[in-house]
Amino acid sequence: MNNSGKSPKISGLLVGGSGLIGGYLLHYFKTKTPEIDVRAPNSKKLSLRELNDIISYFKRHKPDFVINCAITAIRSDALLSYEVNYRGSINLARAALALNIPYIHISSAATLPPGENLTEEDHLPLDASLSNYAKSKLMTEMTLRHMHKKYGLQYTLIRMAIVYGAHDHKIQGINRLLFNIVDRAMPFMLTKKKGVLHSYSNASKVPYFIHHILKNRDAFSGQHFHFVDPEPVELAKLILTIKAYMNLKTPREIYIPYPVAKAGNNFMNWVIKLFNRLGYRAHMPAEMIFLENFYKTQTLSCEKLKNSGFVDPDPRATVFTELPSLIEYYIARWEHLNLFSSFSSKDFNLPHATKKKAGPAEEHAKIFLNSPEKLLDIMQREGVGPLKEIL
Ligand SMILES: NC(=O)c1ccc[n+]([C@@H]2O[C@H](COP(=O)([O-])OP(=O)(O)OC[C@H]3O[C@@H](n4cnc5c(N)ncnc54)[C@H](OP(=O)(O)O)[C@@H]3O)[C@@H](O)[C@H]2O)c1
Repeated sequence: MNNSGKSPKISGLLVGGSGLIGGYLLHYFKTKTPEIDVRAPNSKKLSLRELNDIISYFKRHKPDFVINCAITAIRSDALLSYEVNYRGSINLARAALALNIPYIHISSAATLPPGENLTEEDHLPLDASLSNYAKSKLMTEMTLRHMHKKYGLQYTLIRMAIVYGAHDHKIQGINRLLFNIVDRAMPFMLTKKKGVLHSYSNASKVPYFIHHILKNRDAFSGQHFHFVDPEPVELAKLILTIKAYMNLKTPREIYIPYPVAKAGNNFMNWVIKLFNRLGYRAHMPAEMIFLENFYKTQTLSCEKLKNSGFVDPDPRATVFTELPSLIEYYIARWEHLNLFSSFSSKDFNLPHATKKKAGPAEEHAKIFLNSPEKLLDIMQREGVGPLKEIL
């Protein structure tokens, strides 16, 4: 522990702090835990690909714990997946081992087969045919267990399922589903009518669990946990709820059988390759490699989590209760980023958040669009003096 000022502070290293889950963690530790100080260097300062970055960081800062929620893009090649997700994670754990401090690692249900009520002991067989992502996550799970047994590494591994939460920079998982439905890129149902269930993980609750782990480190050392909402969710129901909330006509309730969806997917891959050869850059959404998951149940047991002493900060929150705010957040975000090809919130009777009254920033954006010289003049007259608030 580092003694700085009056009260002893625990200081932690968070790798992946700019990501979806890392962002929630950083915000939590900055606002809710005065006794814990978390540093979150970005990947330019501390890259998991560079062993020297890890060594020099640990030499300089000597953290009291490490949380790793870094990940390379899901479609990354073997080299990057290996270097960041596997070797980088293990090097970070080796550094934690050297200082004998807790190492908390975020993993994924991608290491699990389809099935119901899967436990923390379940995993896919390690096989060359796994995707780079799943392989690198599974190998990390296995090596961390080995390091615990062989050297006493104090680690806790948290497996997340389909993660929901705001501030995701990428469009993946449930966000891809939402994006495609809203942008009317899903004319029919790419799942079965009934019985395809998945587990969901609430990103905003992860920090509470990690804080609980840090307060009870001995009980959690060498343990794996599933961090999922207690109730699994039927994919068809989720799609139809989004459709109803948005008052959309599609996807129509025609359920495409898996072999047909797979053939369509293969065809699109072929078309895209053709276009790429002609010089147009295009690619399939990364998670189409998980198309099979739209047709297969995968639910994770949360029994161990329930018995861990962790108190859910908001037991009523589920993906359904969060859906309205997520839809409004992401629609506004994707519209600002000009990502939609066929959707405009103006055409929809959406709740207030996406149609909020224009404020000064929106007024300025209009001037920025139509008469930038006028905006330059306004700014230079009114908006460039010293920031007195600082003084
Ligand atoms: N999102 C999901 O749906 C989901 C589902 C299941 C499990 N998980 C797991 O949850 C964890 C976090 O996922 P996420 O969705 O929050 O990730 P994310 O939003 O994609 O963020 C990835 C983070 O990794 C960092 N990073 C990338 N390359 C790095 C490198 N070479 N060195 C150091 N940092 C690097 C990035 O930092 P910079 O921006 O500085 O490059 C970024 O902060 C991962 O372990 C993932 O497997 C996620």
